Amino acid sequence: MCGIVGYVGARSVVDVVIDGLRRLEYRGYDSAGVALVYQPEGADPYLAFDKKAGKLANLEAVLDGQDRSLEASCGIGHTRWATHGVPSDRNAHPHLSADGRIALIHNGIIENFGQLRAELEADGVEFLSDTDTEVAAHLLGREYAADGDLTEAMTRVCARLEGAFTLLAVAADDPDTVVGARRNSPLVVGLGDGEYFLASDVAAFIAYTTDAVELGQDQIVTISRESGITVRGFDGKPSEGKPFSVDWDIAAAEKGGFETFMRKEINEQPTAVADTLRGRIDETGQIVLDEVRMSDQDFRDIDKVFIIACGTSYHAGLVTKYAIEHWTRIPCEVELASEFRYRDPVLDRSTLVVAISQSGETMDTLMAVRHAKDQKARVLSISNTVGSTIPRESDAVLYTRAGIEVAVASTKAFLTQLAACYLVGLHLAQVRGIKYADEVSAVLDELVAAPGKIAKVIENLEPVREMARQCAALGTDRVLFIGRHVGYPVALEGALKLKELAYLHAEGFAAGELKHGPISLIEDGTPVIAIVPSPRGRSLLHDKIISNIQEVKARGAKVIAICEEGDRITAAHADFVFETPASPTLLSPLLTAVPLQEFAAELATALGRDIDQPRNLAKSVTVE
Ligand code: F6R
Repeated sequence: MCGIVGYVGARSVVDVVIDGLRRLEYRGYDSAGVALVYQPEGADPYLAFDKKAGKLANLEAVLDGQDRSLEASCGIGHTRWATHGVPSDRNAHPHLSADGRIALIHNGIIENFGQLRAELEADGVEFLSDTDTEVAAHLLGREYAADGDLTEAMTRVCARLEGAFTLLAVAADDPDTVVGARRNSPLVVGLGDGEYFLASDVAAFIAYTTDAVELGQDQIVTISRESGITVRGFDGKPSEGKPFSVDWDIAAAEKGGFETFMRKEINEQPTAVADTLRGRIDETGQIVLDEVRMSDQDFRDIDKVFIIACGTSYHAGLVTKYAIEHWTRIPCEVELASEFRYRDPVLDRSTLVVAISQSGETMDTLMAVRHAKDQKARVLSISNTVGSTIPRESDAVLYTRAGIEVAVASTKAFLTQLAACYLVGLHLAQVRGIKYADEVSAVLDELVAAPGKIAKVIENLEPVREMARQCAALGTDRVLFIGRHVGYPVALEGALKLKELAYLHAEGFAAGELKHGPISLIEDGTPVIAIVPSPRGRSLLHDKIISNIQEVKARGAKVIAICEEGDRITAAHADFVFETPASPTLLSPLLTAVPLQEFAAELATALGRDIDQPRNLAKSVTVE
């Protein structure tokens, strides 16, 4: 939520900052701004800034019209997802101190900003925006005026702020320094040759360097061409970051020939799932986690599992409940992370909390993790972002290896979360003593075969696109999704994708619930997408959903069924069928979710929506 970039070095500062913002735009895109410090020869340094409501392109248009004969020596840039104050030029970052000597950008929420603003206003400070950020700019300006040391000033300001924040600042008369601070909000450092970067994530600077430093909680970092990088705690004590090397390159952050990142990421799913599974099953058939600060006995002592997550990751959690309960016989609850800690859940040392988060930074999930840890529960996280906060604070971690996901709507992250969740379920089953040893080893074989089947689904998506275009042409204003068992979370996910991308009313239901109310939504021609389980095995489920299809058809619905190949019964009842390869029911979401992603992307495209950056959304939601 909000993308932040800082740079000091010999390259064109404005180009580096804008390039970084372009790669971070997925974090927020309702306004953007830059502040640049110039050092003209034989004259005093000075600060210039520009900010513009709307996408980054609006800011670029302003900058393109400017005289670029003098290069800045350092700078900061911001792309915003609004929390306090509407998206507008005046609320865009950077914000300036009252004397105009400091420019500051911010990601997060300063919770005590009301009290600080009242205090500053009582002292005669005039506020120019409705943001919480501006208090930090004014406080920093005052502190900087005291001794002209930006790092010391930032340290004193951080001591006064409550909430979650990443701050970056530059000063008009210090052309060689960018200072950053972080609490509960991401900030990484990029190390180049005589140049340094600060950013919300490494995507902003991998075009220039793959050497990075991870910062800890409550740390302040100063980058300068002259003195390099220095890190200290909010308490002023010298500290060190943790160096790491970024293992993906710039090509991974580009569109690779696709028109949108979302289309590229849908197509990357077979590889992403294969990468997530690779090397995770050792030669004895045991599942290997990445970071484990729990003993096998700790795992054996677990008598209850809670899965916490938000949005799409929550849907991955809902699927996982079926798998964990079936394979381990341990009761498993799934809860929206934003609700978890407010209802006082019953947790203790024998509870395992599984936190699922692509970004590893989602504030709702992070707060739920901290609540679980306070109650002494063990936390195992599943995340796509190495070194992010949620994995760092967990007792055990399994990383999905989806690579960077740029499109705001999650696709490959979802499928890799499913793959990782299955591994966690199987790991639990193995550590505790497997009840269904044959089934578990068969499932592992099926998991390994899944990427090939996902590729087959992706090759054959054209009929789904055609169906989506027809819905758009007919002016469809609502789409219902129904499923049973693991098909129910897939229905929820299909509806979420369509809502967020096409801005249509879309809802997912447990198919059996339709008759208890939602069936009244159906009118002549209403599209209903049914996720049909395999007719093999749990055939009872299959019969039941066929009845549900008949119920909605009797009321005029147009039924689009996602079913297993060769399912003649479904073909006889639905208006349109999309067939997926045969798979065990528990693993079927890896296949059935894909046509729903494509359906949403195509329908939204036909309606002229921006599918990579849907309105009002941001990729990494670092506020509660
Ligand atoms: C929807 C989507 C969101 C995220 C949610 C959680 O397409 O991407 O619903 O799944 O914001 O994000 P993470 O997984 O980063 O915690």
